[in-house]
Amino acid sequence: MNVVPYKQETGSKKEQVAQMFDKISRRYDFLNHFLSLGIDISWRKKAIKLLAPYAPKQILDIATGTGDFALEAMKLNPDQVVGVDISPGMLEIGRKKIAEKGLDHRIQLRQGDSENLDFNDNNFDAVIVSFGVRNFEDLHAGLKEMHRVMKPEGTAVILEFSKPQSFPYKQLYGFYFNNVLPTIGRMLSHDRSAYRYLPESVAHFPSGKDFLEKLEKAGFNNCICKTLTFGISSVYLARK
Ligand SMILES: C[S@@+](CC[C@H](N)C(=O)[O-])C[C@H]1O[C@@H](n2cnc3c(N)ncnc32)[C@H](O)[C@@H]1O
Repeated sequence: MNVVPYKQETGSKKEQVAQMFDKISRRYDFLNHFLSLGIDISWRKKAIKLLAPYAPKQILDIATGTGDFALEAMKLNPDQVVGVDISPGMLEIGRKKIAEKGLDHRIQLRQGDSENLDFNDNNFDAVIVSFGVRNFEDLHAGLKEMHRVMKPEGTAVILEFSKPQSFPYKQLYGFYFNNVLPTIGRMLSHDRSAYRYLPESVAHFPSGKDFLEKLEKAGFNNCICKTLTFGISSVYLARK
């Protein structure tokens, strides 16, 4: 099932997702950290640490948004990070942040679609995505593109929301994610739908074993999943 942000509208999921992120781009970073109590920062750190043993020099950050995962990837001391996103609004904020940190010679942000990447085959040592794959219109096409542009022996790291399974985390998370978060998100983002789309899209997105199967189907090997914070998020590592 393809969950879209604006159910009454007729645009494709891709168009609606780009429109939604453009609309919330100015408040995205604040809302992310506020609604997750800053835990999203530690999730990105943990996910990037998994890449350290591979010392990637060329990194592609897909669905880079405002660039937080790309910036975290700089801890691996790569030669270059390229970030790609469909939302010009998110990229604009990202470029400002990168320039303020004096990193614009090493991180380059470009507008582009993850399901149709404008890069040659076997180009990157690592391909990373945080909280992006759930928004793809065609997940299989997006994963296949990630695999295509990655060098043989390359590594993919994907961070995404998942669903806690055990008591009481499942219940607490369900209440917060389905009730508190959409209400606060609606008030602070000035978008009625964005923070209702978040729990709905997570509920319908494959996680754990199901997502590992999707990775294998797209051609990845040695796929593993690590759950973070009682399973609220998961990080997947996969090789080419
Ligand atoms: C929740 S944000 C994540 C941003 C960033 N990675 C982070 O960790 O904060 C999801 C991003 O995915 C982007 N996105 C969704 N579908 C995409 C696609 N098909 N191609 C490129 N970017 C896409 C959106 O524009 C948005 O900026």
